[in-house]
Amino acid sequence: MTRLRLDGVTRRFGGLVAVDDISFDVPAEGVTAVIGPNGAGKTTLFNLISGFLPPSAGRITFEGKDINGRPPAEIAKAGLVRTFQLVKLFEDLSVLDNVKVGCHLRGRAGLLSALLRPASARREEAAVEARARELLVFAGLSAFADEPASGLPYGRQRMLELARAMAAGPRLILLDEPAAGLNTDESAALSRIIRRIAEEGTSVLLIEHDMTLVMNTADRVVVVDFGRKIAQGTPAQVRADPAVIAAYLGTGKPAAGKSATQEAANG
Ligand SMILES: Nc1ncnc2c1ncn2[C@@H]1O[C@H](COP(=O)(O)OP(=O)(O)O)[C@@H](O)[C@H]1O
Ligand SMILES: [Mg+2]
Repeated sequence: MTRLRLDGVTRRFGGLVAVDDISFDVPAEGVTAVIGPNGAGKTTLFNLISGFLPPSAGRITFEGKDINGRPPAEIAKAGLVRTFQLVKLFEDLSVLDNVKVGCHLRGRAGLLSALLRPASARREEAAVEARARELLVFAGLSAFADEPASGLPYGRQRMLELARAMAAGPRLILLDEPAAGLNTDESAALSRIIRRIAEEGTSVLLIEHDMTLVMNTADRVVVVDFGRKIAQGTPAQVRADPAVIAAYLGTGKPAAGKSATQEAANG
């Protein structure tokens, strides 16, 4: 079953085509990775999928529903949740409260319902607390529950971001370079957590630079370069693909600076 479908998705910034006619499916099962050199358009692609940017052309469907141009909050509520390339936490809140905020993304007990239906709101609050603590165990963060998020070392902040995203009970989670800045052990732990997320039924779409992580974690890989999809297959297939090797070695590319010049020329 297809969870997410991209069909001819394109995004222009002035004269620069950051995402150029990209089509692929993300099946419900397992981990799909998008890889490509810096500037290939990976983060832009995530911004399009999660509603932070509207596409210039093409169609994006999530569980059969057109989500083109829908606002990010609506897309998240539908079950498509993302993390960011740079960690974005509520630094003044405790580790536990950061995860609880994520739970409330899907919860019904807003301020108004808490006032109108105090008993059910209290029950929901207890359920949220239990779920948040479970996720802290999952992410190896239980010992830090009451500490401010800002006090966590970087690797643990990334885990917390993942736990918070999972708190929303997503159907599909988009992870933008989750291993960036992690050491080898942290990266291996992350790989196990990502596999478990997929096994428990949340589809994973992962952007990653760390090839070891991709090879160990992904079931299938889409490779982009200069906004275009240049290969797709199993990790072993794409690793052996001459077009992919060329992209990573920097051969066969348009003249350096061309895009930037065009971008400037077109505002
Ligand atoms: N908001 C924006 N305005 C103009 N250009 C952008 C914007 N976002 C990204 N770009 C450009 O789009 C290209 C792809 O960027 P990005 O999606 O961040 O690549 P990646 O995540 O693969 O490194 C780059 O040339 C980048 O400078
Ligand atoms: Mg990026």
